[in-house]
This record gives sequence, structure tokens and C-alpha cells, in this order.
Amino acid sequence: VTQSYFNPVRSFFGAGSFSRLSELVGERDAVLITFPEARELGFVARAHEMLQGKLVGEIDTVQPNPDVAALGPAYNAFWREHRGTDVIVALGGGSVIDTAKTMMVGTRSASFDELLAAVKDGTLLQPERVKTLIAIPTTAGTGSEVTPWATIWDYGAQVKHSLHLEQTWPSAALIDPALMQSLPASVTLQSGLDALSHALESIWNVNANPISDTFAVAAAREVIATLPALMRDLGNLDLRGRVSLAALKAGMAFSNTKTALAHSISYEMTLRYGLAHGIACSFSLPMVLQRAIGRSADRDRVLVEALGPLDVSCQRLQAFLERLGVKTQFSDYGVDGNVADRMIAQALTGARGRNFIGADGAMPG
Ligand SMILES: [Fe+2]
Repeated sequence: VTQSYFNPVRSFFGAGSFSRLSELVGERDAVLITFPEARELGFVARAHEMLQGKLVGEIDTVQPNPDVAALGPAYNAFWREHRGTDVIVALGGGSVIDTAKTMMVGTRSASFDELLAAVKDGTLLQPERVKTLIAIPTTAGTGSEVTPWATIWDYGAQVKHSLHLEQTWPSAALIDPALMQSLPASVTLQSGLDALSHALESIWNVNANPISDTFAVAAAREVIATLPALMRDLGNLDLRGRVSLAALKAGMAFSNTKTALAHSISYEMTLRYGLAHGIACSFSLPMVLQRAIGRSADRDRVLVEALGPLDVSCQRLQAFLERLGVKTQFSDYGVDGNVADRMIAQALTGARGRNFIGADGAMPG
């Protein structure tokens, strides 16, 4: 059986990587997409310093979990004002990078409605214009800087859409732990656990291959070994660097497998119970692990590499999460047994849930 691994993103990592921005943009014009606090953190000023007159616009209003109600007007304004601009620099967490991926593909009508209609009915959007994306994560966990997918939320309709095109890969990612040093404890934890979830989800995944496994095992082991120490020492640049590299490896892993059951469950928990993504996609990991064990000898072998002996791995993973203050039962989040059972059944039939090796019709790899 032949297998393949593909990731076209040129990744720079290590403290100081941010300074590569000017050479990457070169002589082209760029627009910065970022989050409101980026200005007071000094990130916007540094981008201006590096790009000078090449930085022709800024959008600094991206909120967590970008919703169609905010994305639509922002997209339409962006394509009115920046039709001729070459590069988007996305500086922020997953919400910022996902927003930039949505912005980078220009529809024929230059309107968001055309993009949303294609995403909703699953037709392949043929963008008329595409901008180059340079992604600079300020959290360690999303992986969005090395994947082509963007999550688009529609809170009004209580659904989550996924934009996925050939064109939505970033061209470069700058993973600079120095940008993460002032990240608060809550976001450090959420993003670190998102990375752990990406790693494990790419192992109990029908699309796993030996290359994604190598990234996933390294990422899972490093997050487990390092995140608790980072939570006690948030300003530690060395620990920030290790967790950011682990998150990058987890991104490399799931860039080829997509996520699985824990993420499928998470979308409901975020839409209906308001849980932050990193908690929503990690609280269920011990339960999903329990369902994954024993499905295939090959997957069990990789899970042992990532988590140690399987007879104690569920308890150990649960203890790891609880020591970090994350509750691991549905009931802890106000979801009672019947509702949880229905949610899991539903999640197993979702696009990401069907990647899980324990889903009906899944082909254990
Ligand atoms: Fe995630």
C-alpha cells in the first residue's frame, strides 16, 4: 500500500522568527489581520517597523470564534479596499488565522454570501483571486498556520462550517515563542490542550500514516511533559518554545489526517454550552481514548508510544487533565447522560467523527 504525506507551508520557528516577516513580504503590499490586544502588546508597531510602507491596511477587530455576522461585512469591505493587495499577514490565534483564510479567497462577486453559499452546500468554491497568506500564531496550539482549513461559525443557525480549499494553505508560518510570552494562563492552557487533542486525534484516525504518527507521538509526549511546567512559569521562553514546537508538530500531524471524534464533540460543546475550543476538544480525550483502544493493533502500538501502557493510559490522561484544572465528564459541564449519549452518537456521524477509528463504517488503519 502506498501512502503520502503533504504539507506545503514553509515554517520558521524559534525565538526571533517574527523578524523574518520583512524578507517574506519582500516588495509586495500587505494587510495585517490581527486581534484587538495586538496593538498594546506592541505587535502592530513591530509589523509596521518591519514592513514600513508595504503595510497598507490593518484589521484588528477579530474576536474569538469568528461568526458569519461579523465575517460577512469584514470580507466585503476587505475586497472593496484591498482587491489589489498581494499578501495577508495573520497575526494571532486560530480565530485570526481562520479569518485570514476566509478573507484570502476572493469570490467572483467579491461578496461573502457567494463564499458562504458554497461552504454551506459543499460545492467547491473557485476563487477568482487569491492572496498569499503568512501566518504568525500568537498561541501555541491551533495548528491553523500549517493547515488549509478554516472554521466559520454561524451562531444564529447553531452550526459550524469548515472552509477547505487548495488555495487556503498559508505559504509561510512564523512560530515565534517570544510572541507567546505574555499569553495569559487560560489561553496558554486552552491552546496547549488543543495541540494535545490534535496529536491524539491524528493517531486514532483512519487517515493516519507513519509520517503523521511520528509528528503526533512527538507532539503528544512533549505537551504532556512540558505544559504543566509552563503553567507554573508562564514567562519561561524555553518552555514556551518547547510547547510551540510541539503544537507545530501536532499541526503537521493533523494537517494530513484532519481531526476526529473529540473535535466533532467539541463543536456542539462550543455552540451550545459556550466552551472555549481548547477545553471543548480536550475534556473528552480520556473517554475517546477508551473507545479507541483495542480497535486495531497498529493504532494501539502508536498510542502506547504516545501515552505509555494502555491499561493505565485513560486514568493517566484523566489525571493529567484534572491536575491542570480541566474536568473530564460531560456532567461537569451541565450535560446529562442522555444528552451526552445523543451528542456522541451525533458526533460520530459528523465529518470529523467519521475519521475516528471507532466510528461505524470507519476502516481501522
Ligand atoms: Fe482544535
